[in-house]
Amino acid sequence: MPRRILCKAIPALFVLGVLVSASAETKPPKPATVPGVLNGDFEKGTIGHWKDGKVSKAAISSIAHTGKHALALGPERAMCSQIVPVIADSRYRLTAHVRTEAGAEEVQLMASNFGGVKTSVSSALTEYSPIHLDFVTAHTAKEVLITLIHPGGPGKGYVDDVKLTRLGNAPPPVIEEFMKATPRPIEEEGGAAMQPDKTLDWFQDAKFGMFIHWGVYSSMPEGSEWVMHQQAYTPEVYQKRAEDPLNGFTAAKYNPADWAKLAKTAGMKYMVLTTRHHDGYALFDSRHENSWNAFRHLTRDLVREYCDAAREAGLHVGLYYSPMSWRYPGYYDINGTDCKPNVWGYKTDPAHKENARLMKEEVYEQVNRLLSSYGPIEYMFWDGGWLGQTKDPAMEDRFWDTGMFQNPGNEWPVPDRYTVRDETTGKPLGIMGMVRRHQPRMLVNERFGWVGDIHGEEGSAAVGGPIRVQAMEKCMSLMKGGWGYRPDRPVVSFEEVAVYLSDCAVRNINYLLNVTPDREGVIPRNQCEVLERMGQWLEKTGTAIHKTRGGPWQPQFGEFGFTYRDEKIYAHVFAGYRDRAKNTFRTHSIGRHSVKSVKDLATGKALPWTLNDDKTILINDVDYTVNPAVTILEITLNDRIELPE
Ligand code: GLC
Repeated sequence: MPRRILCKAIPALFVLGVLVSASAETKPPKPATVPGVLNGDFEKGTIGHWKDGKVSKAAISSIAHTGKHALALGPERAMCSQIVPVIADSRYRLTAHVRTEAGAEEVQLMASNFGGVKTSVSSALTEYSPIHLDFVTAHTAKEVLITLIHPGGPGKGYVDDVKLTRLGNAPPPVIEEFMKATPRPIEEEGGAAMQPDKTLDWFQDAKFGMFIHWGVYSSMPEGSEWVMHQQAYTPEVYQKRAEDPLNGFTAAKYNPADWAKLAKTAGMKYMVLTTRHHDGYALFDSRHENSWNAFRHLTRDLVREYCDAAREAGLHVGLYYSPMSWRYPGYYDINGTDCKPNVWGYKTDPAHKENARLMKEEVYEQVNRLLSSYGPIEYMFWDGGWLGQTKDPAMEDRFWDTGMFQNPGNEWPVPDRYTVRDETTGKPLGIMGMVRRHQPRMLVNERFGWVGDIHGEEGSAAVGGPIRVQAMEKCMSLMKGGWGYRPDRPVVSFEEVAVYLSDCAVRNINYLLNVTPDREGVIPRNQCEVLERMGQWLEKTGTAIHKTRGGPWQPQFGEFGFTYRDEKIYAHVFAGYRDRAKNTFRTHSIGRHSVKSVKDLATGKALPWTLNDDKTILINDVDYTVNPAVTILEITLNDRIELPE
C-alpha cells in the first residue's frame, strides 16, 4: 500500500512527502517569525501592499467588515495581490471576509507560488462572510502569492481582514511506494469527446516545443504583442504603422527552415506559430472580404511556408489562432446593448451586433482555411475566445458555437458560403465540428470555450504540484517582458530553462517555450544562445525527458522529481534538495524491484549506491556542481516499470 497522504482540501500535501533521513536526524528548526499580510484590513485607506501582481479595478471602499475601509473589486474581472513571506515546511491558514453585490457573482481568495498546487476558495454571499483556505509550504518555499479576485459580472466584490496564520509544522515526510496508474478521464462537451490516449502519445512524448509569437506587432518597439491595446491605436493607425515599408512588418529575412533547425537543435519536438494574434492580422491567405493578412500585404502565405518547413524538419506542426480581434468594436458589445469596458472608448451601439457577427464570420472562414489548406495540423492553440475580454463560458458558447454544430437559432449566423456542413446529416458545423471534420487527430487546447484535449498554464511562475492526469502544457516566453519581439530584451537563463523543463517533465507537463522573431523574421541572438545550450544539455540528458512519463513517485517541489521509461527511473535533483551538501541522493521505495546500475546522465559517470531496508536507494558521490540547477541521475532497474492499477 502506498503511504501517500491524501487530502483533497490541502493539495499541497501531495507534493510534500519524502522520507528524508534529515527529519529523523535533525529536529525541525525553530521557525523564525516573518511579517504577515500587510494592510490586510485596508485601514491604510489605500490599496498599498496589494500591487505585487496584476492590479485591475481594485479600489478602497467604505463598505467594510470591520473598521472604516475595505477593498472593492470590479465591476467585471478585477484583482490585486500581495507576496507574503512564509516559513518553509509549514501549515498555513489564509482567511478573509468577503461579500458581493449580487449572488450571481463571487469573490475568490487564492494562494499560489508556495510550492504546492495553486489553491482557491470563493463565496457568492451578499453579506460579509468568512472564507479560508489551508495550504502547506514546500521545503524551499520563501513566500506565498495571495490574490484577491472578482472573476466577472456587472457588480462589485468586497474583501476585508485578510490574514495569514501559521498553524504548525508540515506533516513528517513519508516514504512512497510506486504511485498507482490513474486513467485519464475523457470528457465530452458540445457533442465532441476529448481525444483518446493513443492520439495524445506524440504530445506526451514530445515534452518540449517552440512557441513563436510573430506578427505585425513585432515591428513596434514601443510594446509587445499587446501594443495595439496598450497604446489604444485605432485599427487605421495600427495598420499604417504595420505596413510601413521601411520600419513595418516585412518578413524580409523570414526563413522558417532556420526556426525549425533551431528548434531541433534545442531538443524541441514541435512548433506552434501565431497565425493570427489579437490584433487580427493573419499570417496566411485568408479570403474573407474583411481580412487583413500577409497574403494581401506581402503576397506571401507565411503559414504555408512555416508548415512546410516544420514538417520537412520532422517536427510536429502546431498553430496558434486568436478568435478575438481588436479590429471589431463588436467584440466588446456582441448584443449591441451592453458594451464592455475597452481602451478605445467604444460605447454601446446597436450596430455592434452586426459587427460582432462579421467578426465571427471571418473567424469561421479563417479557421476553416487553416484546418483545410496546410496538410495535417497536429495541434491548435486557441487563445482569446472570451468575449469583451471577460470570461463568460455560456455567452461564448452561445456566440461562437464552439461545439460540433451551429445552433440553428444562433443570433449571429454564419452565412452558407462560410459554413462547412456535416457530410451525412448536412448540419452546419460549429468550431469543434470543423476541427474533427478536417483534422480528426488534431489536439486543441481549452481556450475557445470547448473543454480541450490539452490544458494550459501560462507565464513564468514556477511549476509545482503533483503529476497531472490530463494532458498539460506550460507556456512561457524566453524573452523577459512579453511574448512578441522587443529590442534588446534580456532572456531567461539556460539554467532556469533547464529547471522549468525538468519541473514540467516530472509532472507530465509539456514545456512550450516562446521565441520572438523580429519584424524581418530573425530570432534574437541571446534567445538562440539559450536554445543552443539547451540542445547541448539535452544531448546528454534528453533520455530523461523525451518519451518519459512523470513518476513512479510524486515530485517534491524545489527538491526533486522523477520521470521513467521502460526499466529506467530518472531522478531530477534541484538546487533546494535538503541533503545536497552530503553529495548523496535518496529515492523512495523501489518495492519488489532491484537496481542494476546508477549513473549521472550529464557526465556519464557510474555512481555507487546502496539498498536500504526500507527499499529506498541511497546514491553516493553525486557531483552537484556540473549543472547546479538540475542534476539528473539514471537508475536502471532489472525489469520494466509498470505502475500498479
Ligand atoms: C495571453 C496573451 C497573449 C499570449 C498568450 C500566450 O493569452 O493574451 O498575448 O499570446 O497569452 O499564452
